[in-house]
Amino acid sequence: MNPSSASSYERVLVTGGAGFLGSHLCDRLIAQGCDVLCVDNFYTGSKHNVHQLLRSPNFELIRHDVTFPLYVEVDKIFNLACPASPIHYQRDPVQTTKTSVHGAINMLGLAKRTHARILQASTSEVYGDPEIHPQPEEYWGRVNTIGVRACYDEGKRCAETLFFDYWRQYRLDIKVMRIFNTYGPRMHPNDGRVVSNFIVQALRGRPITLYGDGQQTRSFCYVDDLIDGMLQLMDSPPEFTGPVNIGNPGEFTIRELAEMVLRLTNSKSTIEFKPLPQDDPRQRRPDITAAKTNLGWTPKISLEDGLRETIAYFRATLEL
Ligand SMILES: NC(=O)c1ccc[n+]([C@@H]2O[C@H](COP(=O)([O-])OP(=O)(O)OC[C@H]3O[C@@H](n4cnc5c(N)ncnc54)[C@H](O)[C@@H]3O)[C@@H](O)[C@H]2O)c1
Repeated sequence: MNPSSASSYERVLVTGGAGFLGSHLCDRLIAQGCDVLCVDNFYTGSKHNVHQLLRSPNFELIRHDVTFPLYVEVDKIFNLACPASPIHYQRDPVQTTKTSVHGAINMLGLAKRTHARILQASTSEVYGDPEIHPQPEEYWGRVNTIGVRACYDEGKRCAETLFFDYWRQYRLDIKVMRIFNTYGPRMHPNDGRVVSNFIVQALRGRPITLYGDGQQTRSFCYVDDLIDGMLQLMDSPPEFTGPVNIGNPGEFTIRELAEMVLRLTNSKSTIEFKPLPQDDPRQRRPDITAAKTNLGWTPKISLEDGLRETIAYFRATLEL
C-alpha cells in the first residue's frame, strides 16, 4: 500500500515523537493531514526537532513519560519512546527497561481502551550477537541477559512479548517492526552512534575512532526509507502483525563507512583504533524478504546519497 494513502483526520499518537525517528514520522503524518499528538519526556529528544510543526493546528506536543499511564483518545499509536543509543540507554539502565516494559504496558492499555491500532518500534538488537546472517524474523536471537546492553535488548524483547500477548489475549490490532541501524538528519551529534560520530569527527577535523579492527559490518538505512516502511506497516492488513525487519541489507564494514565519510566531507581526519566495547555484535544485516513480500517495501536511498544529506545537516547545525 502507498504510504501516502493514510486517511486524513486520523488521531495519531507518536510516543518519542520529539526524537530522531519520531520527529520525521510526525512531519510525514502532518503532511498526510493526520491529527498528531506527540508525546515525549525530552530525555534524548528535543523541541527543536519538531519546532517546524508547532504552528500547525493539527500538531500537539505533550511532555509526558510513558512509564506513567496516559489518557487520550486516538485511532493509531506509534510507540517509539525509548533512548536508542548505548550512551543514552546505559546512562540510566533501570529507566531504559522501565520505558520499554512499562511504556509498552501503558500504551497497549491505551490501545485496548480506545481500540487503536498500535505499532511497536522494536529493534535488531533483539537478535543480540547473532549466529546467523542475515537475520530473518524467525531467528530467536542470542542476547546476554546480564550484560550492559541487556536493559535495552531485553526491554525491547519483553515489549514484543507484551504486544503478542495483548494480540493473543485481547485481539489487539498490533504491528511489530524491528528497526535496523538508521541514520539521517536530526541524529544526535554526541550519542556515540557510528554514522553521527564519524561525520562530526570528520567535519571537526578530529581523528575518526574505529572500534576493533573496523571489519565488523553494519547495514545503514536512511531515515526516509525507514519512515516509508513504518507507515506501510501501520497501514498493512490487520492479519499482518509482524515482527518485520525494516533496514537496508547493503552491508558495509565500519572501515568502509569511515572512508566514505572522509571522502564526502573532504576531511583530513586520521583514523584511530580503539578496543571493541562489550557485547558489540560483529555483523548485523537484515533479511528483508518479509517486508518485501508483505508490504512491498524496499529501501531506495543509497548510503552515499543518504550520507550527503546527513553531512549537509550536521554542517548546518554544528556551525562549522
Ligand atoms: N535509530 C535507530 O537506528 C533505531 C534502531 C532500532 C530501533 N530504534 C527504535 O526507534 C525508536 C526511536 O529511536 P530514535 O533513534 O529516534 O531515538 P531517540 O533517542 O532520538 O528518540 C527516542 C525518543 O523517546 C523519548 N523518550 C525516551 N524515554 C521516554 C519516556 N520514558 N517517555 C517519553 N518519551 C521518552 C526521547 O526523549 C526521544 O525523543 C526507539 O524506540 C528505538 O529503540 C531506533
